Amino acid sequence: MERTLIIVKPDAVQRGLIGEIIHRFERRGLRIIGMKFIQMSRELAEKHYGVHVGKPFYEGLVNYIISGPVVVMALEGTNAITAARNTMGATRCSDAAAGTIRGDFGLEIGRNLVHGSDSVENGVKEVSFFFSEDELVAWGRDVDGWIFE
Ligand code: RTP
Ligand code: MG
Repeated sequence: MERTLIIVKPDAVQRGLIGEIIHRFERRGLRIIGMKFIQMSRELAEKHYGVHVGKPFYEGLVNYIISGPVVVMALEGTNAITAARNTMGATRCSDAAAGTIRGDFGLEIGRNLVHGSDSVENGVKEVSFFFSEDELVAWGRDVDGWIFE
């Protein structure tokens, strides 16, 4: 089972899209194992986006992600990383396919509504940045056998 960290970014929260976005991941079959509504500190944002230090968009990215509250979710499932990123759509919203979150709700790369981990290692690492082990719930759904092969 892979783990991915999903963030419903400040623009999506401000636009009233929390439910819409959670619904899409839930419907996909990914299992929610952690969720909270937080105002991210600059320190945590810099840790989360550490891989982008030095890039021209870094400052703007950190300011964007701390500009308002966000919902962070830890999701689990087979191929969770790829599945979640396909549900999100391309980073640049104008390139994102219709039917994806970014393709249905966004226009700009710097207002792209949602974050998802980009590798199995980063999924594990990012979930640990936002959730302690006792905040994660190990559970099974009665329908798991109809979703996971
Ligand atoms: P994310 O990390 O947020 O899930 O997005 P991603 O993997 O699709 O994109 P990534 O390359 O990791 O970039 C992180 C976020 O930085 C902003 N960005 N702006 N102006 C630019 O050229 C630029 N490039 C990236 C986006 O908000 C992107 O989601
Ligand atoms: Mg990324």
